[in-house]
Amino acid sequence: MLITTEDGSHSVYTEQFDATYHSRHGAIGETLHVFIEAALRPVLVQKRAEIRILEMGFGTGLNAWMTFLETRSHEIPIFYDTIEAFPLPSEIARQLNYPQLTASTDLENIFFKMHDVPALVPILLSDVKAPFIFKKYLQTIESIDFESNTDIIYYDAFAPQAQPHLWEFAILNKMFQTLKSGGVLVTYCAQGAFKRTLKQVGFKVEGIPGPAGKREMTRAFKP
Ligand SMILES: C[S@@+](CC[C@H](N)C(=O)[O-])C[C@H]1O[C@@H](n2cnc3c(N)ncnc32)[C@H](O)[C@@H]1O
Repeated sequence: MLITTEDGSHSVYTEQFDATYHSRHGAIGETLHVFIEAALRPVLVQKRAEIRILEMGFGTGLNAWMTFLETRSHEIPIFYDTIEAFPLPSEIARQLNYPQLTASTDLENIFFKMHDVPALVPILLSDVKAPFIFKKYLQTIESIDFESNTDIIYYDAFAPQAQPHLWEFAILNKMFQTLKSGGVLVTYCAQGAFKRTLKQVGFKVEGIPGPAGKREMTRAFKP
């Protein structure tokens, strides 16, 4: 079910997990704060030869869309891999107001393409200044073996109350192995048990100010 969050941007409520896909205080605001400002921008300014991003939970495609818009003016190839086991129906994706609210309706076909791409086929979504290559895993995170080449992980699973196993050692260790040394994982979650598990896995963990309505979020580095 489509909902409208406090900054006017849409999100989705799912009965299956009794959860919303974003903060009710603002979906776009949350994505900008947690994923773009806390992880993507600090890596973009390092002028790396390429940036490899892995997203846990494609959902509405908002994180992917905001990443696409943010990187368009940079000359850095972006490889964006995203995981989604329960894709949203296409008719819901087409109602989301993200292209309108980001003044990018001229590019909305790219947003729709992100939703419609087949599994495991890398697609060149744009090549204006540098390639943006997008690949979707349409399967559970538990069932995937990744390479160890990721610069940034957007860890955007439903909250620990909804899906506790996604915040426990086995999956977090899988995320650790997926990152390059110096790579970063960000998430809106700041739960104590989760942060302790990240440390057990080997991450260097930071609690930093969260988006609207949340005191803290988590940023964790692979040493
Ligand atoms: C918080 S939402 C993601 C929000 C998303 N990043 C966005 O921008 O809209 C969590 C997503 O994880 C997906 N999911 C839940 N369990 C999963 C699993 N075991 N493996 C892969 N995806 C899963 C859900 O279907 C949902 O789309």
